[in-house]
Amino acid sequence: MSPSFTKSHELFARAARVMPQGIYGHFTPVFTVPGSYPYFMERARGSHFWDVDGNEYIDYLCAYGPMILGYANDKVDDAYRRQAGLGSCCSIATRLSVDLAERVTSTIDGADWVMFAKNGADVTSMALMLARGYRKRAKIVLAEEGYHGTQAWAGTSTVGITPADRADILMVPWGDLDALRETVAAWKGQIAGAMFTPYHHPVFADQKLPGPSFWAEVRKLCDENGIVLIIDDVRAGWRLDLKGSAHHFGFRPDMACYSKGMANGYAISMLVGAEKLRVTASKAYMTGSFWMNAPEMAVALVCLDEMERMNVAGVVRELGEALTRGLRELSEAHGLKVSITGPAALPFMKFANETNFLRSQLFCGECAGRGVFFHPHHNWFLSAAHTKEDIAKTLEAADAGFRAVKERFGD
Ligand SMILES: Cc1ncc(COP(=O)(O)O)c(C=O)c1O
Repeated sequence: MSPSFTKSHELFARAARVMPQGIYGHFTPVFTVPGSYPYFMERARGSHFWDVDGNEYIDYLCAYGPMILGYANDKVDDAYRRQAGLGSCCSIATRLSVDLAERVTSTIDGADWVMFAKNGADVTSMALMLARGYRKRAKIVLAEEGYHGTQAWAGTSTVGITPADRADILMVPWGDLDALRETVAAWKGQIAGAMFTPYHHPVFADQKLPGPSFWAEVRKLCDENGIVLIIDDVRAGWRLDLKGSAHHFGFRPDMACYSKGMANGYAISMLVGAEKLRVTASKAYMTGSFWMNAPEMAVALVCLDEMERMNVAGVVRELGEALTRGLRELSEAHGLKVSITGPAALPFMKFANETNFLRSQLFCGECAGRGVFFHPHHNWFLSAAHTKEDIAKTLEAADAGFRAVKERFGD
């Protein structure tokens, strides 16, 4: 039986009158398969959420990454409530900022200092400013199809963006060392920094992992040319290695950006950096009304402890391996070709023989109708709250999804 979305649709009609698009940004239902997905959630616990019509889902989006220990995690939420009772936003900083900074600098490989903020976009922007301030150069290298937020320099939107906003941004394909070398040579002495994600996680396309010598070569090129190497670990951070994704891939950036899983859904982000950038970071005036809020810091401390205690990176990798192995076996049994790319803890699946995503949409729509929430065009996320039973139920739904694709498309 198909789920009912009556309440979701009623709410959406109200939302559309008072908010642009009704639901905007990455929460927009535009990606979904019409009639297969809810628009509004009611509650969430563990790896599951329930929509406003009472339909239940095993969630493989994890709020697009932040949920890493499970929704409504008691330890996390107790830490928040406890600190909220003592104070949140105050006129001076709290000792929690010091406790958390000490914890972070002793955990993240190469982090000599840290600055806290709220969103991933806050810290990716800070990183570019500090690289420019440190090197006294303007140009920044980014990867094509990389995502660092919706700021004007990031090139995500076209509305209201002027050529000047991106005049100093140079683009290279992610992982293309020759293109990077050519760009560095062409703009010799003018590039302040290069910011990349630790592996390539574009939307609509296969993810790419770095080759064995890739990061060592990038590090060398940056050092030879005085370029500040920045890693945007906002999405992947904490799911590959507690010490940072750069540590996982065996290199040290000059700065790295974190958020998402850092506080299991509470709003906090951070920029960590190497000693050589400390003075520049001290001179820069960077702040926000809510950046020192205490409850999120209390949560981040608990979250770091929990991630370490539970070996979350290992847990999500194993769960991801079980899921992706099952999906590969099922697709093969149905005579379908899929490509599943990226780390097992953040996998992306597409049908290998299509470019229009109609198969993915049908597959994900069928899974959603059976209580499994996948995104057809974006990578998925595993959390420490997913269970073997979740994976088994998910594979049952996926079996039906693959069957529907086979019946509709034949291959
Ligand atoms: C790699 C990466 N960088 C930066 C951001 C921006 O983070 P935020 O949405 O918290 O501003 C995101 C968000 O998805 C991201 O995936």
